[in-house]
Amino acid sequence: MDGTPEKIYSVAVDGPSGAGKSTLAMALAAELHILYVDTGAIYRTIGCCARRQGVDAADAQAVIALLPQINIEMRYDAQGLQHMLLNGEDVTAEIRLPEISLYASAVSAIPEVRSFLLEMQRDFARKASVIMDGRDIGTVVLPNADVKIFLQADVEIRARRREKELCERGTPRPFAQVLQEMRERDYNDTHRAAAPLRPAEDAVVVDTSYLDFQQSKEKLLEIIKEKVGI
Ligand code: DC
Repeated sequence: MDGTPEKIYSVAVDGPSGAGKSTLAMALAAELHILYVDTGAIYRTIGCCARRQGVDAADAQAVIALLPQINIEMRYDAQGLQHMLLNGEDVTAEIRLPEISLYASAVSAIPEVRSFLLEMQRDFARKASVIMDGRDIGTVVLPNADVKIFLQADVEIRARRREKELCERGTPRPFAQVLQEMRERDYNDTHRAAAPLRPAEDAVVVDTSYLDFQQSKEKLLEIIKEKVGI
């Protein structure tokens, strides 16, 4: 220790669902001893609220009307796992239900929902070094991030990964349905007017289709270390 304050840096990881963002970002955060922020979980919490209230997530006015009653908090447990609290209630497990995915995708297309969540996300990066994953982190949330990575992979490979993950969680779904929902979400996320999913101009694009977890992790670690100079 030479007494020099540690440099605060931010890493943005964007890409479609199933490209490996959250698994990789979580592992990299542990290795680099920085904070991991899963922003999809925040949109899922809004989707969860809409579903509970019986609100059609495609009805923008009805979703916007819910916002003043929504209080979202994020907590980290002793294992470093991110918990989501909706009005004080832990909804971490509920937001992972497959039916919440489409709710999350629909509410995330509403500009008012995005601006409602913007400062909350930026706040994390002001206080500590972070690796944040989502769809618009490099383009909108942290446009000055030190490192921007855009992860992509073939849709069928992503759907296979998601099918396996759902099976391991005890909520199996047929592959055809997982693939169809993934295509639908890809379409929604890339075609919406508000902060559509796209690589930032200065993002490094990494295709994980034929890379296993370890290879992907090493590749990302190399990019981060080179850009941040650590
Ligand atoms: O990463 P995820 O699958 O948990 O995200 C759920 C939905 O939230 C996804 O369909 C797109 C949306 N999302 C977003 O629009 N912007 C983000 N920064 C993160 C997620």
